Amino acid sequence: MALSTEQALALLLILNSAHLTAVAKKPNESVMKALAETPVYLTSDCPSQDRVVVSGSAGGRAVLPCSYTPTPGQDVEVRWEAYPDQVKSVLLITSKTPSAPIPAQWSGRVKLSDEVSSGNASLLISELRLEDTLDYLCTVWINGICVTYRNVKLTVQADCPSQDRVVVSGSAGGRAVLPCSYTPTPGQDVEVRWEAYPDQVKSVLLITSKTPSAPIPAQWSGRVKLSDEVSSGNASLLISELRLEDTLDYLCTVWINGICVTYRNVKLTVQGPPKRDSTTSTTTTTTTPTTRPSATQKTSPCPTQQGNAAAQRRSYCMKPL
Ligand SMILES: *[C@@H]1O[C@H](CO)[C@@H](O)[C@H](O)[C@H]1NC(C)=O
Ligand SMILES: *[C@@H]1O[C@H](CO)[C@@H](O)[C@H](O)[C@H]1NC(C)=O
Repeated sequence: MALSTEQALALLLILNSAHLTAVAKKPNESVMKALAETPVYLTSDCPSQDRVVVSGSAGGRAVLPCSYTPTPGQDVEVRWEAYPDQVKSVLLITSKTPSAPIPAQWSGRVKLSDEVSSGNASLLISELRLEDTLDYLCTVWINGICVTYRNVKLTVQADCPSQDRVVVSGSAGGRAVLPCSYTPTPGQDVEVRWEAYPDQVKSVLLITSKTPSAPIPAQWSGRVKLSDEVSSGNASLLISELRLEDTLDYLCTVWINGICVTYRNVKLTVQGPPKRDSTTSTTTTTTTPTTRPSATQKTSPCPTQQGNAAAQRRSYCMKPL
């Protein structure tokens, strides 16, 4: 017999779920087939919804979307399973017994939408963990018949918490403090980095607390300095002799033991009469694009939740203006 792709997928899904007693107790009049000793049911007529990819940040929450068309007075069951090893599934929740014990990894962290009866079968996972990065399966059963299913891929990214983006203004020739802070923990290996985004795509390194005297692009050379209180948690940057072309986006990141612990975007606006000085009118920034810090970097400095990876890389940690 020739199975359609969808049928084959449904078969695979049901095979995967086979060890679940709750699925196994669902024999009904639809197309089912028992195989070998373990009860396995083939439901070849369960329509699928498009597979979706959802991403979230560690500690945050994610909504795994799933829906169905409600028909009043019917016996509806929504089930969510996870696939920790791509072969066997574990039951996370079912609308029939939403408080039933589940694997410790998800205990207390999963919840069905409040609107299940209206057709919203989405799953909420809170306090996301990196190990929640898995495939999930939603199935909806009406009167014991699977009416729809959906595969959802969840990706949980390590998070670097952001501080509120701030806007700082200064006058040409004057100075500006770009604020950034972190909570110091004594005895830790702290690195504060400041970068500028001359073209919104690539960043240039202005200063790092590890090597504060390292050469930097000519535009800022001799004009940037870290706060004297870096070890007390003040990671602010001082820029002196402000130039109009310093009007840019800046990024502060703080790394403790190679892990990004906080970041902040700062928009600097420099106002004043345009300088006629020949040394400043030509803004030939011999900027060398910097790479991300330390090989010990363990987390993405960008806590962006949604969107494709390429867009995230492109925008790095810059928030839209
Ligand atoms: C379904 O419920 C979830 C959780 O309450 C919510 O975030 C989502 O927006 C709902 N979806 C629709 C389509 O209403
Ligand atoms: C941090 O240091 C800068 C530069 O020394 C200073 O202007 C600013 O007031 C300090 N911020 C705090 C919160 O102490």
